[in-house]
Parts: sequence; C-alpha cells; structure tokens
Amino acid sequence: MSNEELFQAAVKAAGMAYSKYSGFSVGAALLTVSGKLFTGCNIENASYSLTNCAERTAIFKAVSEGHTEFAAIAIAGSMTEDYSKPCCPCGACLQVMSEFCGNDMKIVLSDGEYKLSDFLPKRFDEESMK
Ligand code: THU
Repeated sequence: MSNEELFQAAVKAAGMAYSKYSGFSVGAALLTVSGKLFTGCNIENASYSLTNCAERTAIFKAVSEGHTEFAAIAIAGSMTEDYSKPCCPCGACLQVMSEFCGNDMKIVLSDGEYKLSDFLPKRFDEESMK
C-alpha cells in the first residue's frame, strides 16, 4: 500500500470522527506488518478528558484483534474537509505507539513520511523500569 493510499484511508476514517466538542476530525490508518489495515477516529466525550485520539483507536482495535506488529500509520486531521495541513500525533499517542513500534515505524502525514524517532527520540518503556 502506498503512502498516498494509506493517507487517503486516514482521511476516510476522519469522516467517522465523533468530535462534537472540538469540531476537529482526526482519522488514522494503521498498517500491520502482515498487510492488514485498521482505521480509527477520535472519539470525544462530554467529560472532555475521556476523549480517545484516532491513533489510539486504531492501535487498540488492532491489538484487541491480535495484531501487535505495525509497519506504518497515517494520520489526517482537520477542522474542515481540507486535510492538507499536517496533523502530528500527540504525546499520548506517541507513547502508545512506542509500546508496539520501533524507532523506524513509518508515520505518514499530509506533508510526507516520518519515523517514530523523529517525534519521540527517546522513550519510557519496560527497559526504563529495570
Ligand atoms: N486528536 C487526535 O485524535 N489525535 C491526535 O494525535 C491529536 C488530537 C483529537 C483529540 C480531540 O478529539 C481533537 O483531536 C482535538 O484535540
């Protein structure tokens, strides 16, 4: 699957966003190493802090179905129908990604391709607790 195809899957997923409080729709498209695609959207709540980001929705869907190895994730976010401005993953999502993904995990935004380590050069993980 090309970066553009993965990004367009994220844009489509953003169409499912439950974002009535912020009005900001986010979609994520997560590709497993076995080639399976999981998508997710942000899901807000009247108790704002319970909001779940699109990336974590996609990752939790995948993990709950037995997939824990990921090759790439595309993210699209916008207040409008225009997803051309890059939407970077938040810190909470980066931490959740870091649980399952190595430094080379591909992150596709509207302006190109990045690695997890571009956003999270160091990480808190199980090694940190030894
Ligand atoms: N949001 C995401 O879905 N992913 C991110 O990485 C950043 C923020 C959502 C959460 C909230 O519903 C809205 O964007 C505004 O913060």
